[in-house]
Amino acid sequence: MALPDMMTAIDPVDAGGPEVMVPVQRPVPVPGRDEVLIRVAAAGVNRPDVMQREGKYPPPPGAPSIPGLEISGTVVATGADTGVEMMGQQVCALIAGGGYAEYAVAPVGQCLPVPPALSLEEAAAMPETLFTVWTNLFERAYASDGDTVLVHGGTSGIGTMAITLAGLFGVRIIVTCGSDEKCAAARAHGAHHAINYKSRDFVEAVKEITGGKGVAAVLDMVGGDYVARNLKCLAEDGRHVSIAVQRGAKAEIPVFTIMQRRLILTGSTLRARDTEFKTLVADELHRIVWPHVEAGRLKPLIDKTFPLERAADAHARMDAGEHVGKIVLVTGQ
Ligand SMILES: NC(=O)c1ccc[n+]([C@@H]2O[C@H](COP(=O)([O-])OP(=O)(O)OC[C@H]3O[C@@H](n4cnc5c(N)ncnc54)[C@H](OP(=O)(O)O)[C@@H]3O)[C@@H](O)[C@H]2O)c1
Repeated sequence: MALPDMMTAIDPVDAGGPEVMVPVQRPVPVPGRDEVLIRVAAAGVNRPDVMQREGKYPPPPGAPSIPGLEISGTVVATGADTGVEMMGQQVCALIAGGGYAEYAVAPVGQCLPVPPALSLEEAAAMPETLFTVWTNLFERAYASDGDTVLVHGGTSGIGTMAITLAGLFGVRIIVTCGSDEKCAAARAHGAHHAINYKSRDFVEAVKEITGGKGVAAVLDMVGGDYVARNLKCLAEDGRHVSIAVQRGAKAEIPVFTIMQRRLILTGSTLRARDTEFKTLVADELHRIVWPHVEAGRLKPLIDKTFPLERAADAHARMDAGEHVGKIVLVTGQ
């Protein structure tokens, strides 16, 4: 089937509120040597897309200005160094941008097959949170069977993925959420404990839940004054991983506590990592996590889907912060 020259995409010229997310016409991208062109069925919405819309998180050099970090769809063209056997395959992919469109390119190494157990909407809602939680909670923080961990934002895209992965890999998970309703939703999704941080001091609650021992790791998307409080939640030799700084990029760190209790502080940002790294992660996920996806044991929790043309409504929903799980855009293709 001949490919069109132009496509509908969301590509705001100016930063602003959800109202800047209007459909426009853009050229269909051309895959590079190691890339495939995907006819997009669905694209996941992530908090970093909101930050990009607000002008606070510009795309890295070489990435498209069109937002969207994860997609699913059908391979319709392949680059010079990419096997033609990819043609026609249904895949989901982690990309550095360009997902809010009818077509997007993805490095072939960052694509994963969509098994029958997963719908294309679900597949689009997996890569960004799966790559992030896997590399940060399981690799940087070494969470493993029998550990108890603390994850903030229990009903976020990241938090709901962390809950599911923890359940699959024998990790007990405590989450925090901003309302009793969200705590109930996190528990229903599989969190062992959910603390409403607006009505309870989470440091005290974690001490109580763990019998004073503390948790093996904290996955932190809050930053600011949370960091010192998170360190109080850690057991000896505990690991603290920063993935966002929603309450501030600066924190006061009790250095002596780090020494006394042998704590490790680390963090990472996924989007800026190179294709080689992301390909290695995709390969590992394919070997270790994908069998759970194929067996229907790992699916994202979907909050709501919107047509691509209504990306503004999808962003307004994320701005309101009432979502539980993932918001997804669908193209109808
Ligand atoms: N480093 C990386 O590679 C990477 C990759 C992907 C995402 N991220 C970051 O991870 C975070 C989650 O992403 P997402 O797409 O899953 O977003 P999301 O669904 O919008 O979730 C944001 C979460 O942050 C929580 N939150 C916001 N302000 C808070 C505060 N002051 N105190 C406690 N909790 C607060 C909210 O919890 P309540 O509503 O319960 O308050 C909400 O669950 C974002 O900050 C994003 O930038 C980082």
